[in-house]
Amino acid sequence: MKLTVVGGGSTYTPELVDGFARLRDTLPVEELVLVDPAADRLDLVGGLARRIFARQGHEGRVVTTSDLDAGVEGADAVLLQLRVGGQAAREQDETWPLQCGCVGQETTGAGGLAKALRTVPVVLDIAERVRRTNPDAWIIDFTNPVGIVTRALLQAGHKAVGLCNVAIGLQRKFAALLGVDPADVHLDHVGLNHLTWETGVRVDGEDVLPGLLREHGDAIAADLRLPRALLDRLGVVPSYYLRYYYAHDEVVRELRTKPSRAAEVAAMERELMTMYGDPALDEKPALLARRGGAHYSEAAVDLAAALLSGAGSPYQVVNTLNRGTLPFLPDDAVIEVQAAVGAEGGPAPLPVATVDPLYAGLMANVTTYEDLALEAALRGGRDRVFRALLAHPLIGQYEYADTLTDQLIAHNREHLAWA
Ligand code: G6P
Ligand code: MN
Repeated sequence: MKLTVVGGGSTYTPELVDGFARLRDTLPVEELVLVDPAADRLDLVGGLARRIFARQGHEGRVVTTSDLDAGVEGADAVLLQLRVGGQAAREQDETWPLQCGCVGQETTGAGGLAKALRTVPVVLDIAERVRRTNPDAWIIDFTNPVGIVTRALLQAGHKAVGLCNVAIGLQRKFAALLGVDPADVHLDHVGLNHLTWETGVRVDGEDVLPGLLREHGDAIAADLRLPRALLDRLGVVPSYYLRYYYAHDEVVRELRTKPSRAAEVAAMERELMTMYGDPALDEKPALLARRGGAHYSEAAVDLAAALLSGAGSPYQVVNTLNRGTLPFLPDDAVIEVQAAVGAEGGPAPLPVATVDPLYAGLMANVTTYEDLALEAALRGGRDRVFRALLAHPLIGQYEYADTLTDQLIAHNREHLAWA
């Protein structure tokens, strides 16, 4: 099996490589190709990847290249994990929205729109080249904003599926709290990427969520940084991205007083890259655990294995077309739910129980925003950016939408062909 990682020079790659090594019985990778325009990063990350494989007795070959076409040739799956503009662009996304009292975050709100506008054209271009060289390859998109990017890919007819680690993180967390094997924990996970709720947690078919909240509500609330009383009132577990909605103003106050996450991550990345250059290092460093991508490799291995050979878990949380699963959303919206994933035909969402209007309303609102965001990303223009921002539930007022539109364009001109 051949796997190609676009954005392979990312500091996250050792997480992925460690997963490929540990889980080689599920996903036997014979050749791993890391594609990245930055040759210096590729050298460091590629070297460590080879040492991780060697240490764990993995016989897979690691190839590094800056030539995308050569890199995807013959690949069974292509993983996209790139960041247009790097942490410097992210830093901007996290900063200028605060001037209007709106959350500054890399995937939520105005910052997320900026990221979508920078990213969608680049990803579509890469996908087009993948299709030309290798039309059978599956594209697994971890590139944010995953919901909008996956929708762009599917709308253009690509063989694509979107992946996020929020669900697998909660599954692992709940399994530890319950003292059971993660594979035995099935989440009733519903929503859009980075806008999800766990409405049930099933072990052996029984919903253990009420007991989980009773016994471990404090720990879960502390992780989400939301009040325990709110979780008790809702009776579901929102993802930590819902804090940007349910505690929006509190988050804005916090963000105004501390360094951005991008600055923190950039410092970690510098340190990580130095570590990766050490020929004695042959495992993923502990520092990587301070990034948000924990368990990303396990989710990616599971998904690739299920898509390519049917070996992964039969049900997985993915981003895919709604197709009537959530009747209050358009069929061509991209949703994040449990799906049956097999080697034939890709993911098929499992049926979802009626969704509480409290969550359905927000999902519908954000779906509309994502639709307008994709319009803006594909066709450009100030007015399309304004419309997406005006539609966003965390923005909504014309004065903010106007100011943020100007800021977004001013900070991203070099990445926007139309600006
Ligand atoms: C989680 C999210 C990812 C996001 C990451 C950010 O893993 O699911 O979509 O990219 O957090 O982590 P970072 O360490 O870059 O803040
Ligand atoms: Mn994610």
